[in-house]
Amino acid sequence: MSQPTSRWTPAQIPPQNGKLAYITGANSGIGFHAALELARAGCAVILACRDRGKAEAARTRILSDVPAAEVEVAQLDLASLESVHAAAETFLATGQRLDLLVNNAGVMALPERRTTRDGYEMQLGTNHFGHFALTGLLLPALLRKGPARILTVSSGAHRGATMDFADLEWERGYKPWPAYRRSKLANLLFGFELERRLKKAQAPAISVVVHPGVSNTNLFAAGPGQGGGLQAKIIPPLIALIAQSDAQGAWPTLYAATMPQIHGGRYYGPDGWREMRGYPVEVRAEAQAYDEELAAKLWDVSEKLTGVRYTFAA
Ligand SMILES: NC(=O)c1ccc[n+]([C@@H]2O[C@H](COP(=O)([O-])OP(=O)(O)OC[C@H]3O[C@@H](n4cnc5c(N)ncnc54)[C@H](OP(=O)(O)O)[C@@H]3O)[C@@H](O)[C@H]2O)c1
Repeated sequence: MSQPTSRWTPAQIPPQNGKLAYITGANSGIGFHAALELARAGCAVILACRDRGKAEAARTRILSDVPAAEVEVAQLDLASLESVHAAAETFLATGQRLDLLVNNAGVMALPERRTTRDGYEMQLGTNHFGHFALTGLLLPALLRKGPARILTVSSGAHRGATMDFADLEWERGYKPWPAYRRSKLANLLFGFELERRLKKAQAPAISVVVHPGVSNTNLFAAGPGQGGGLQAKIIPPLIALIAQSDAQGAWPTLYAATMPQIHGGRYYGPDGWREMRGYPVEVRAEAQAYDEELAAKLWDVSEKLTGVRYTFAA
């Protein structure tokens, strides 16, 4: 593992002028703070969000802090493959190359089983299938010149997940937290498998996975908080008490996005107790995240269900 020599903060981000980043779910939480700090470092950013109003509000917040920021919004609903295709086509039509893709958007522990527009369980559908499709479709822009980086945001919640291909979509006995865990294990399996495939094709890009520890974002109210009852009452104040800020939650993303010593196929998160908070370092995922057979199987299923096939030629 290669670790930073001192406690890393965004003050150490090298100049990012001339680069372009595409960040999903950038209107809120970790995605927003990642976009803000990248913009501060001179990177042009695209806030890819499902709600245009929230995206415009985030753009205004970034511009009020960094008036010279180059920041645009893009319409992207990861829970709709039609929307993912439209977003990718809109971007590719600009002819721009992409230096950084941050697969950040996510939903967590939805109390009831819901499905995407295409009928897939919402957490796996949004957090994994949507990003699998988006990355494959944006790949030509990422590989145009290189070296590009593809970051996928997972979670400590991947630990203890099951990848049950007989009931991947939780059609029998849906459970909110296990469904979230599965989607976050899928993020890791995808990120590491993507790195193996990029390397095999000698493509000018790396794939890296990050996690933000426990960070005080809207994720808790938007997910488990929707269910009402005790969970909705207890979880948000508990998180406010134990979590680090949403800004600090973005540090592993920013570290992996910008620092020269980052390696493909690695995993970065906070250095504190149980990786819940702290300064970004390289960390290890649970053993099954490195299972190449499992990853290849998920890749095949993802191609089949999204209809997106990866082409690694630039
Ligand atoms: N916060 C934590 O402690 C924590 C821990 C581990 C991992 N993570 C991961 O960190 C990532 C960012 O979450 P966060 O904590 O920053 O939460 P957040 O503030 O709720 O941000 C989530 C973002 O994802 C967007 N999103 C949700 N569904 C979408 C869809 N169908 N299409 C496009 N965008 C969609 C949300 O949009 P709306 O605003 O429109 O809902 C929002 O912008 C997630 O992948 C999450 O799993 C967070």
